[in-house]
Amino acid sequence: MPTGRITVLGLGAMGSAIAARLRDTGYTTTVWNRTAAKTAPHTAAGSTAAATVPDAADAGDVVLVVLLDHGTVREHLEPAAANLKGKVVVNLTTTTPDEARSTAAWAADHGIAYLDGAVMATPDMIGTPAARLLYSGDENAYAIAGPALAALGGAEFTGADAGLASLKDMALLAAMDLMLLGYLQAVAMMRTVGVPAVETAGEVESWLAAMLPHGKEVAAIVDGGAYDTGGQSVDFDRRGLASIITASREQGVSAQLLEPHLRLLDELSATGHGASDWPRIIDRLTIPK
Ligand SMILES: NC(=O)c1ccc[n+]([C@@H]2O[C@H](COP(=O)([O-])OP(=O)(O)OC[C@H]3O[C@@H](n4cnc5c(N)ncnc54)[C@H](OP(=O)(O)O)[C@@H]3O)[C@@H](O)[C@H]2O)c1
Repeated sequence: MPTGRITVLGLGAMGSAIAARLRDTGYTTTVWNRTAAKTAPHTAAGSTAAATVPDAADAGDVVLVVLLDHGTVREHLEPAAANLKGKVVVNLTTTTPDEARSTAAWAADHGIAYLDGAVMATPDMIGTPAARLLYSGDENAYAIAGPALAALGGAEFTGADAGLASLKDMALLAAMDLMLLGYLQAVAMMRTVGVPAVETAGEVESWLAAMLPHGKEVAAIVDGGAYDTGGQSVDFDRRGLASIITASREQGVSAQLLEPHLRLLDELSATGHGASDWPRIIDRLTIPK
């Protein structure tokens, strides 16, 4: 039976799943939620409800924060700083890397051991091996909270920079976002001739599965940095993409999701890189600080 007192701040869909999993694993759990009524199922199942965030902080050695966003987190943690001193705070609320770093700096100023987390899972996946949770920040805090965090799913410490977990989360979400937009573009094009979305979905899935392994080749070209492997070039890609854009428009489908990609390739070509490997496009994505 695990020992340790864990507090969960926030009982939305994710916080509730996390509190339930920790309780079921055997941890003594205290919960707090802005809308107090949401604590009822948790107290019925054996958790203790705290009336205020400072009370909730007092009741836990490890405090998990699963609130809406960065602003909400700071709004509720700052007044409880004295209660959190000497404890481990694990913030699983989705934030940006700089927001995570800002909260880590605030925590350090107040003697709080801080870990920032990113949940790569939906609430129903919590407690299963399919859930992946990333953590960054205070490694000692990770060692202390580790056993409890392992109960939530696969746990991975990504480094001492508190922004790293969020950065990886956001990077993977960016990849997902662009991939799913591509899926919708294909659906929109095929719908013009009456093909149902579900049928195109199957086609896209097979096609992407065949193409995904090439991602590692693209990565090797980027890491090589020379963009001279003689593979698919910027100009070759421009011609292909121009055809896709024309085909979309011919079918009465907007190409506005594809046009920014073509603009980046055009910029590369115009600056003398038409013969470069197309992954050179990454240069256009990097904004000098
Ligand atoms: N759900 C997912 O699939 C998923 C996956 C990965 C990461 N996450 C992240 O997990 C976090 C929580 O998500 P969720 O799905 O649990 O969201 P949710 O169901 O909408 O719950 C939001 C939680 O934040 C609280 N909250 C909102 N505004 C507040 C305020 N001003 N002051 C105090 N509490 C406030 C809510 O309290 P009330 O009950 O009083 O409204 C509730 O406890 C988010 O950062 C989300 O991005 C969620």
